Amino acid sequence: MEDRIVFQDKNEILSNEIEEALDFALKQITQNLDVFTDKFQNAYSINNFYQPIENIEWTTGFWTGEIWLAYEYALEKGLKEAEKLKNAGEIQVEDFLNRIEKKIQVDHHDMGFLYSPSCVAAYKLTGNKKGKQAALLAADQLITRYHPVGEFIQAWGAMDEPGNYRLIIDCLLNLPLLYWASEETGNMVYHDIAQKHIHTAIANVIREDYSTWHTFFFDMKTGAPDHGATCQGYRDGSAWARGQAWGIYGTALAYKYTKNPEYIKIFQQVTEYFLRHLPKDLVPFWDLEFTDGKEPRDSSSASIAACGMLEMAKYIEAEDAAYYTKIAKQLIKSLWDFYAVKDSNVSNGLVLHSTYSNHSPYNTCNHYGVDECNSWGDYFYMEALTRLHKDWELYW
Ligand code: GLY
Repeated sequence: MEDRIVFQDKNEILSNEIEEALDFALKQITQNLDVFTDKFQNAYSINNFYQPIENIEWTTGFWTGEIWLAYEYALEKGLKEAEKLKNAGEIQVEDFLNRIEKKIQVDHHDMGFLYSPSCVAAYKLTGNKKGKQAALLAADQLITRYHPVGEFIQAWGAMDEPGNYRLIIDCLLNLPLLYWASEETGNMVYHDIAQKHIHTAIANVIREDYSTWHTFFFDMKTGAPDHGATCQGYRDGSAWARGQAWGIYGTALAYKYTKNPEYIKIFQQVTEYFLRHLPKDLVPFWDLEFTDGKEPRDSSSASIAACGMLEMAKYIEAEDAAYYTKIAKQLIKSLWDFYAVKDSNVSNGLVLHSTYSNHSPYNTCNHYGVDECNSWGDYFYMEALTRLHKDWELYW
């Protein structure tokens, strides 16, 4: 691509810093197991400390995912923590099986966020059969939300409510669960629904300037595209930072699973928009409308975007791959230098200054988890570090 954005004066994270960051993450996660084995982390911290909750949120899979990433790292290093982490991961997988069997808070589309980093990971890493069983049930649950009219998976709410007849950009990360389910079972229904949803989502959530809608509505009768709207972004026409980051990682995964070359181009354009709207330290404000000033950051978006760039780097030409890898390393360097937790007395999380849901006069979301640790922020930071540390077989 011509004239693409470069960050001349920014350092990349070095291998020794990646190891230092992973060493700290391993220590922090192992230490947290005392509280967070039978319980899960809340979606966000309060004053930088997570409280324990039951397995009810859409976010609980991220904590289990961190346990599995830490397990992989400890195993590679031959550390005794590996066994403790594996045991904790297995206890959590049982809880996920119970959750999907009893259908506890699963009436939404976030089955991939819940079951890929927890149960698919357990199955891929250790052959855990309960993990496989739970993840297949989660895939079955996810496809119940598919609308053949409109060809998309509905995000939230009752399936017959016009006010909920919409998809959201985040859902691109829920689809690898469906591809995995088809691979495991040979049943192409999951695959076909994922394929249809990707097509509908990408055709509608990306605007002409390659910013993205958070959510997009369809006509209930005809399935025709209707209009975009934000929920967690600043205003309807702005680009919610995490939505744009889900778009980056989501299009990289869309390419991985479909091999549609159009998705590489779209990935590049969506990424370019994100990069052009970063502040000086490369960690976005919660909405890309803001590039300076005192608005809260969403550090999780930097990690998600870095993971997406590192994933796409596997499929593109060497020069482009080097470009995206360098930027991912610059983003993670900034997180490591200015946002990462390095002292357990400061936080029981991994990355500070993330934003879950920031209410504005123009959006429809509640207000919580602002300028705190967020469990997916911690997970994707560790995933990015792991990707930079080794050739990682992804959970997605
Ligand atoms: N998937 C919801 C969020 O990113 O906050």
